[in-house]
Amino acid sequence: MVKKVTVSTLQKSKDNGEKFSVLTAYDYSTAKYLDEAGIDVILIGDSLAMVALGYETTHSVGVEEMTIFTRAVAKGVERAFVITDMPFLSYHTDIAVAVKNCGEMIKCGANAVKIEGFGDYIVEVVKRLTQSGIPVVSHLGFTPQFINTLGGYKIQGKTEEAAQELLKQAKELQKAGAFAILLEMVPQETAKYITENLEIPTISCGAGKYCTAQVLVSDDVFGKYSDFTPKFARTYADMKSLIVDCAKKFDYDVKNGLFPSDSEVF
Ligand code: KIV
Repeated sequence: MVKKVTVSTLQKSKDNGEKFSVLTAYDYSTAKYLDEAGIDVILIGDSLAMVALGYETTHSVGVEEMTIFTRAVAKGVERAFVITDMPFLSYHTDIAVAVKNCGEMIKCGANAVKIEGFGDYIVEVVKRLTQSGIPVVSHLGFTPQFINTLGGYKIQGKTEEAAQELLKQAKELQKAGAFAILLEMVPQETAKYITENLEIPTISCGAGKYCTAQVLVSDDVFGKYSDFTPKFARTYADMKSLIVDCAKKFDYDVKNGLFPSDSEVF
């Protein structure tokens, strides 16, 4: 029997000064392979809007789409902890709606949700979700759903004052019940300072090596998504070339009568 990763496992990593790994997945087979590889947390990121659905920003996906991807990923996973990103405006209009929408993800097999932002309203949302049995990761720093208010892909927490402000936000969310803080595009020293001053784990998305965990978009790791690769991503393969190569070979075989062979027919 495989031992499932839980919020307690992730907290133990923080307490023992150990690291854990997080990758995104949007489909059943990818989730299954990441789980087999020993990835601790699988995130159904709303980055799927770009990498799986071809949209320009994360704004275009809704609750219904996230439930479909969540079901597929959850079915492929035995050991990893599964987190679903709550889409744009699915938790902003009112707390009851937020609880209902986040609850849908848990019903589809997620173990937790991730929500972006800070401030009184978001703190209250985190509190109510936690009280409802829905574990929450808070996403701070560069928050893609706020790209229009932030004015583009900009590093956050660069000054001493901004770092203090980020820590203040993180502490409020920790107090409200968030079990981890994801820091995106934050200078390494700022992320270190925040990590050292929190009791819960931090997850780095381009926030350097001192966080408890590291997250990347799996399509960047595999070299599958070629429209844009962030500076902080590490690419371990060239899946795009592999796919194009395989498709070219199939195309050639079909057009030259080489597929199917005698062993591939009934
Ligand atoms: O949507 C996503 O995949 C994310 C990660 C990049 C952290 O939020």
